[in-house]
Amino acid sequence: MSFKPTRGTHDLFGKNKDKHNAIIKKVSSLAEIFSFKEIETPVFETTELFAKPLGEFSDVVLKEMYSFVDKNEDSLTLRPEYTTPMIRAAISNNLLNNLPCKLFGIGPMFRRERPQKGRYRQFNQINFENLGTEDIFADVELIILAHKLLEDLIPNAKCMLYINSLGDKSTLDNYKKELTNFFINFKNDLSISSKQKIETNPLRILDSKDKLDQSVIESAPLIINFLSKEALKKYDELKNLLNNFNIKFEEKNSLVRGLDYYCHTVFEFKTESLGSQDTIIGGGRYDGLIKILGGKDIPGVGWAGGVERIIMLMADSLIKNETIHFAILNESYKSHALLALKALTDNKFLTYWNYKYNLKKSLAKSNELKASHIIIIGEEEYKKKKYTIKNLNDGKQKSLNLNEIITYLKHD
Ligand code: HAM
Repeated sequence: MSFKPTRGTHDLFGKNKDKHNAIIKKVSSLAEIFSFKEIETPVFETTELFAKPLGEFSDVVLKEMYSFVDKNEDSLTLRPEYTTPMIRAAISNNLLNNLPCKLFGIGPMFRRERPQKGRYRQFNQINFENLGTEDIFADVELIILAHKLLEDLIPNAKCMLYINSLGDKSTLDNYKKELTNFFINFKNDLSISSKQKIETNPLRILDSKDKLDQSVIESAPLIINFLSKEALKKYDELKNLLNNFNIKFEEKNSLVRGLDYYCHTVFEFKTESLGSQDTIIGGGRYDGLIKILGGKDIPGVGWAGGVERIIMLMADSLIKNETIHFAILNESYKSHALLALKALTDNKFLTYWNYKYNLKKSLAKSNELKASHIIIIGEEEYKKKKYTIKNLNDGKQKSLNLNEIITYLKHD
């Protein structure tokens, strides 16, 4: 019998795991700069936490949740997203007594989607949430943070920011009714999947990628024409602040997002380098959600990004290999090599001992693993109590004693 990862899941190791770690490091440092505190919540919660807030007719709730009944007859669900668990945790632990409550988290999410490039059934999300402020600068601050993260990690992916406003809840409800009435008139021109959403989730028809739907969608009413004066003012303020900050964006009036809890600002960072799963980061405002989940009636805004999608776009050169390898030409020189290993590890340099005791094999391994330096210990080095150190990037070689090696590596 042989076992493979379950469909839609994958093992994370080697270069991809290094990239995953580099992403976590970057996210943590940006979180610190913008004063977000890390939180970790359980991977499963009660099904109720997700079913209503995400939308009874959303794809996630209708088809994609991993839900099960445990021995106590409780219905539990592997978290399909992080916003609702984070809010639940903020309420459970009284974190909302001190506002704004700025939280971030990174971890696995679970959705039973059809697997394809960039779409998995278990995937990792980076998640930032700012609970308790209506200030539109909170939306902008989160967009700046996302923009910085993508600039630092995937500068070549040419991510584009799309924004829209969904107005307040009552505007959105009216708009949904208008959309339903509009789509009913074009029922026979729509794809089967869109037809099924006319009554239950007309917003989702707007971002259908089905060619059949496109011409109908083009003439559908736009939410921008339904926004109240106040909502339009908020939206203008958002655009002004983004301009002031020199963040390029495009307005996309069909952008509605797939979960039900959004209002006012919604945004997505997309790339053309990934195929159909092209959204790297998505988020927006969700005033009203915290109250639905049993907390105070305070607003919130946040975003989530797909770690696997970022990994796919990350250049290998971003993962620096600073490891110093050893090429020991004979086992009898081990003790001399050990002195160097001790000095290097004491000084927190990364080291690699390859157990080969053969120059050709050692060099081949160091090239394969793209070491930064190699320390060669042959007969001459052993006799003179010296070490030959070679920089594998520029090929320069020096013969040094132990103290000199440490000084040299600190400055090379
Ligand atoms: P979402 O758009 O469902 O939003 O997911 C956010 C990001 O997670 C996507 O843009 C994508 O990069 C990644 N993602 C989603 N599904 C998959 C999948 N099956 N495989 C790989 N990556 C995936 C949310 O989850 C909201 N909670 C975001 C949010 C936070 N809104 C406010 N705060």
